[in-house]
Amino acid sequence: MFTLSAEGQELVKKELTRYETPYSAIIPALYRVQKENGWVPEDAVLHLSQLMNLPASHINEVLHFYTMFNKKPVGKLHIQVCTNVSCAMNGGRELADALCKRFNVKYDEVSADRKITISRVECLGSCDTAPMMQVNDRYLENLTPELAIKKITEMGG
Ligand code: FES
Repeated sequence: MFTLSAEGQELVKKELTRYETPYSAIIPALYRVQKENGWVPEDAVLHLSQLMNLPASHINEVLHFYTMFNKKPVGKLHIQVCTNVSCAMNGGRELADALCKRFNVKYDEVSADRKITISRVECLGSCDTAPMMQVNDRYLENLTPELAIKKITEMGG
């Protein structure tokens, strides 16, 4: 069964004291799981349920509502290409397709070398610098396929 590190468990307990309701600590707790594991396995929900003394069903609802939580393994670099309106009008869809082709991976799958996952996502809030993508915690903006490939390669992709 997945369990957070001791440090992670302490962080979750601290989050529980910060809010009027313990339900507000679910998002930071899930973030911590994802930070430690790269994605959120089902047994992490049970672990958090015990740790936070909350029903697993509530944690599951939050997990499955928000797309920023990975429900299956992702590569070392999780590349999320925005294909919403502004980005789509500026080549976001073609950018996403070009990255899949270059790194030889299908959408939402992990590349054979475990380095890359490419996902198409909704607006990431940087419409004025479209097209853009998020790679792990970094935003990369005003992209062309060539520039995006260069950046990903520099990051170890
Ligand atoms: S449409 Fe791509 S960041 Fe908003």
